[in-house]
Amino acid sequence: MRATLPPGPRTPALVQTIGWWSRPTAYVERLRDRYGTRFTMRLLGQPPFVVLSDPDDLREVFTTSPEVLHPGEGARLLEPIVGANSVILLDEAPHLEQRRLMLPAFHGERMQRLTGLMTELTDRELDSWPAGEPVELHGRLQALTLEIILRAVFGLDEGDRLDRLRDKLTAILSFGESPLSLLPQAQERLRGRGRFGRFERDREAVDRELYALMEERRADPGDRDDVLAMLLAAVREDGSPMSDEEIRDELLTALVAGHETTASSLAFAFEQLARAPHVQERLASDEGGRYLEATINEVLRLRPVLPNAEPRLVKQDVTIGGHTYPAGSVLILAAALVHTDPRIYPAPHAFRPERFRDTKPGTYTWIPFGGGRRRCLGASFALLEMRLVLRASSERFTIHTAGPQQPTRRRMITITPGDGARVRLERRSRPAAAAADAEAALVA
Ligand code: HEM
Repeated sequence: MRATLPPGPRTPALVQTIGWWSRPTAYVERLRDRYGTRFTMRLLGQPPFVVLSDPDDLREVFTTSPEVLHPGEGARLLEPIVGANSVILLDEAPHLEQRRLMLPAFHGERMQRLTGLMTELTDRELDSWPAGEPVELHGRLQALTLEIILRAVFGLDEGDRLDRLRDKLTAILSFGESPLSLLPQAQERLRGRGRFGRFERDREAVDRELYALMEERRADPGDRDDVLAMLLAAVREDGSPMSDEEIRDELLTALVAGHETTASSLAFAFEQLARAPHVQERLASDEGGRYLEATINEVLRLRPVLPNAEPRLVKQDVTIGGHTYPAGSVLILAAALVHTDPRIYPAPHAFRPERFRDTKPGTYTWIPFGGGRRRCLGASFALLEMRLVLRASSERFTIHTAGPQQPTRRRMITITPGDGARVRLERRSRPAAAAADAEAALVA
């Protein structure tokens, strides 16, 4: 079959680029309504993007063999931060090998051991949240998810090294948000100078700290549950360990892939809950956690913070769903579109955790974590974190709106609530028995 591109908008590439960036979900939804679940977009300076959202097409893409589609190649812009060994940048055999090394560290059962640490950090953060006044939660959730990654993934204990790394890594991440991070040629010219020079020095300082940490941990592994401990213990099929450079790159990858994504997903959860008091009440009395799980699944459906999985660069002509796509085009798997397809989710823009009460999310109809051999390695980690934060919050607070809902905003590759998840929290009255005890203590 001859390789062709499906039809799509004929507006100039500039107009399409602006729509794609400024209204990341509304714009493609309009195109989906007009052209169906398969259309081609032209963005400035990019190869043709074929946007797919039919579950059968998604299944075929997720299961296509690794030499035909290259997601890693499409993520090259992340290299200055995550490093060349990062699992997210690799394809084919090197990707598979790196992923095999990392999988045990992120396995669901393994994650359970991090519950105590995550709970402690969550309690500490939530205890500092003010009640009775408007508060923007997004920044606070970013601080919390950063702390959780530094302690549970990087394996840092409290102290000077944690403080130094927190500062430097925050600076590195903010470079990732600047337009300069999108311009590799400009970076080459600016080596050692200006903003890029500062970024390079911060990166060197981070690397020195991380290599010193690894040396200490190799000498004295101790009995630790963090991801770093698992990566230090990982071995290849030939019995050799991961190099320090590989481990450094994977820690930075977890930070880039896992910090903003989890913070924004939680921010959307608070934004939605503020508008759904009945959901909050059900959460407060949800003993087994099933309703909480359904609520999280629904937040990730309605607001997938990565509206698309990693772009898959087509290396050889490939037939998906009876259509042949040419080498050089890029397949975009649109979570934001499959999640709002009214044939799959009736009233798709309504926030209804009940959708997932008795139904598990479908592998190809619910893809906030992507799928196939590239599926998010940190999904269990993120879901555990979201469960703990939302559970701790629903025990302490009721969440209220603090103004009209704002359109979502793009921050680099993720989308976030337009108003930074501005809400008003009210402290829940304590259970009657606890309140009586406290009163008795006061009188005595
Ligand atoms: C709610 C939070 C998160 C969301 C929505 C999310 C979503 C995603 C998505 C959509 C992908 C691309 C998958 C694909 O293209 O098929 C991905 C990849 C990845 N994520 Fe996450 N992620 C989250 C949290 C995390 C966390 C906490 C970590 C690590 C601690 C993490 C580590 C990774 C890694 C390493 C990859 C690359 C996997 C590969 O290329 O093989 N993510 N994530």
